[in-house]
Amino acid sequence: MKCLQTVLASAICLISKAAAEVFIVDNDTPTALQVLLPLAAGKQVLGITTNLGDYDTDAATYEAAMALSTGNLTSCVPVYKGAEQPLLLDYNTYHLWQDLYGDIVWQGAWDKDYESPVPVNASYEYNKTVGAPQWIMDTVKNSKDNVTIVAAGTMTNLALALAQWPAMAEKVKLVIMGGYVDGQIAQTTGGDFVNDMYTDFNLMVDPEAAQTALSAPWKELVIVGNISSEIFPTQDLYNELIAVSGGLAEIKSNKSLGYVSETVGNGTLPSFNLPYWDEVASAIAADPEIVTGSYDAYVSVDTSFSSPFYGSLRIYPANLRAKKGVRTGKAKMITSIDEGKLNAMIVDALVRDWTNYCKTGSAPSVAIM
Ligand SMILES: *[C@@H]1O[C@H](CO)[C@@H](O)[C@H](O)[C@H]1NC(C)=O
Ligand SMILES: *[C@@H]1O[C@H](CO)[C@@H](O)[C@H](O)[C@H]1NC(C)=O
Ligand SMILES: *[C@@H]1O[C@H](CO)[C@@H](O)[C@H](O)[C@H]1NC(C)=O
Ligand SMILES: *[C@@H]1O[C@H](CO)[C@@H](O)[C@H](O)[C@H]1NC(C)=O
Ligand SMILES: *[C@@H]1O[C@H](CO)[C@@H](O)[C@H](O)[C@H]1NC(C)=O
Ligand SMILES: *[C@@H]1O[C@H](CO)[C@@H](O)[C@H](O)[C@H]1NC(C)=O
Ligand SMILES: *[C@@H]1O[C@H](CO)[C@@H](O)[C@H](O)[C@H]1NC(C)=O
Repeated sequence: MKCLQTVLASAICLISKAAAEVFIVDNDTPTALQVLLPLAAGKQVLGITTNLGDYDTDAATYEAAMALSTGNLTSCVPVYKGAEQPLLLDYNTYHLWQDLYGDIVWQGAWDKDYESPVPVNASYEYNKTVGAPQWIMDTVKNSKDNVTIVAAGTMTNLALALAQWPAMAEKVKLVIMGGYVDGQIAQTTGGDFVNDMYTDFNLMVDPEAAQTALSAPWKELVIVGNISSEIFPTQDLYNELIAVSGGLAEIKSNKSLGYVSETVGNGTLPSFNLPYWDEVASAIAADPEIVTGSYDAYVSVDTSFSSPFYGSLRIYPANLRAKKGVRTGKAKMITSIDEGKLNAMIVDALVRDWTNYCKTGSAPSVAIM
């Protein structure tokens, strides 16, 4: 915001500065929208931090760098590489647990057939001077603004930071993707895909880190839960993106429409799609007004290896939570959002020319209606 030099205007300016909010995106599968949604909402994204999960950490770092390079955002949104392994689990114990209690549908970076998506000899930029946990701590410590962390991967970076500086949580609003409860009937009767939709993979890859993070005393903790598993890209969304961008030919030829091009491809929605899991978390963080339903609960993550619920979220009412045996955190559990508004946010964020954002701090909309 520009501060005009009148008494009234500077007062308004001070107020709006005091309410500034900055973002950190912590993820195993960073995508462009996770950054563009907060940027389009006028927030600053201080950086992306990466971790292990769907991909190994190098690949997550590569994906982050690629997502930024399309929009020429590399120079003002740094990427920091984070934890390469969970606090306790390793490849062998991850598979041993499944031998005991059953296979996880999606195995991520520890799938026996996992292949890195990073092309051989690919070069990509990230900041190598400091690792993600240290950068997160330093950033929170030095920030004069309110910090929101959107964590949509394993919580290992956060747990490492919290181990060194437990009070960090009190300064931060944390919004996480995942945190499923009450999925047993659907997981049993719905087949592998539905089972996967209810599998808290991010928590299960590092249950100890998830418990450390989700039971910390955050200024605010928002758990997006299974709502984000219900929201998929649609042909209607593609059609709107194409229409407001001026048609497929324009999208193919105009570099300012790079994010639209990557999203809509040839214009036809692929027959297999994954939900907008992490993007929904990012959208809820960027604009909490899209939330239409929620309830409060105390939460913890099961950290017993000898349990079929190892890595699962448990919820409790305030009066019945354990006072000693299990540390719990207070969370807002999201149950519904305004999907129309979410789609509008996605269109608004993608149909912009981001090329000069790092230089000017603005990204004008290039929508033609
Ligand atoms: C942080 O947000 C709160 C409202 O949640 C606001 O009162 C406060 O002024 C903000 N602080 C800063 C430094 O922006
Ligand atoms: C990768 O780099 C190495 C060392 O420079 C080179 O020998 C190799 O041919 C490269 N591989 C590919 C697929 O480019
Ligand atoms: C890398 O990050 C560190 C820590 O935030 C910062 O001091 C440094 O300037 C960054 N390097 C570059 C090249 O941006
Ligand atoms: C999420 O949970 C609610 C309540 O249990 C249920 O109605 C809804 O169908 C679930 N979502 C998915 C993706 O199945
Ligand atoms: C367009 O892309 C979709 C999804 O990638 C694919 O299924 C379809 O075959 C493609 N159609 C054409 C005409 O190329
Ligand atoms: C990309 O951003 C940099 C500033 O960060 C700017 O100097 C450069 O002109 C931009 N590239 C293009 C193609 O506009
Ligand atoms: C790309 O699209 C933008 C926004 O519609 C427009 O201003 C610009 O002239 C286009 N560039 C080219 C090369 O057509």
